[in-house]
Amino acid sequence: MTESSSTPGPHGLFVSFEGGDGAGKSTQARLLGDWLRSLGREVVLTREPGGTELGVELRSAVLHGDHVDARTEALIYATDRAHHVATVVRPALARGAVVVTDRYLDSSVAYQGSGRDLGADEVERLSLWAVDGLLPALTVLLDLDPVAGRARLTGEPDRLERAGDEFHRRTREAFLGRAAAEPGRWLVLDATRPVEELSLAIRERVEALVGTARSTAAGGAA
Ligand code: TYD
Repeated sequence: MTESSSTPGPHGLFVSFEGGDGAGKSTQARLLGDWLRSLGREVVLTREPGGTELGVELRSAVLHGDHVDARTEALIYATDRAHHVATVVRPALARGAVVVTDRYLDSSVAYQGSGRDLGADEVERLSLWAVDGLLPALTVLLDLDPVAGRARLTGEPDRLERAGDEFHRRTREAFLGRAAAEPGRWLVLDATRPVEELSLAIRERVEALVGTARSTAAGGAA
């Protein structure tokens, strides 16, 4: 474990979005990215699973392939994450970019650890090993009742979306529990609030961190 949550990279800033399906993570990630770019920052907008070429194949296998058991599922997400962090996230942080990811390891802890009952601690250890300890400086949880989230979805449900209400209730509780245990890293927002309001709340929290990342970069260059 070489990184702590407050030092995501030499100069970059690492932000993740978490929450159930249909909570509006990708919309908020995009709005945050647009705003950061308007401030002149390089932004890498990415996602898990599927933030790399290999990840696209793993995403398709885990979401739309044949049935896999829970441990295999956890290992596929961990593989996707290891490759994503090694080839996209760390290089971007090293050159000072802001990395905004739609899902990260808290999804594995919630979905595979609690949803699939593999155990939150074990799945967290697996994920942390996969990424050599890299945690976001900020994780935004868009919290939503899974039944309301399902109603917002369009298209054919994938394997995880078909996992049932009880599964999704457990994942929601797991996200909330993790957020409550580590409030410094998390921002919990009610996903039923208007898009613009949520976006402002997220900016407010990121603003302070961007300032910190900037002064670190300036200090490093001096
Ligand atoms: P997502 O990309 O958010 O789905 P969509 O594009 O359909 O909105 O995530 C795909 C699914 O994978 C989602 O149901 C959550 C699940 N998932 C896990 O179970 N574990 C993980 O580690 C990750 C990253 C996602």
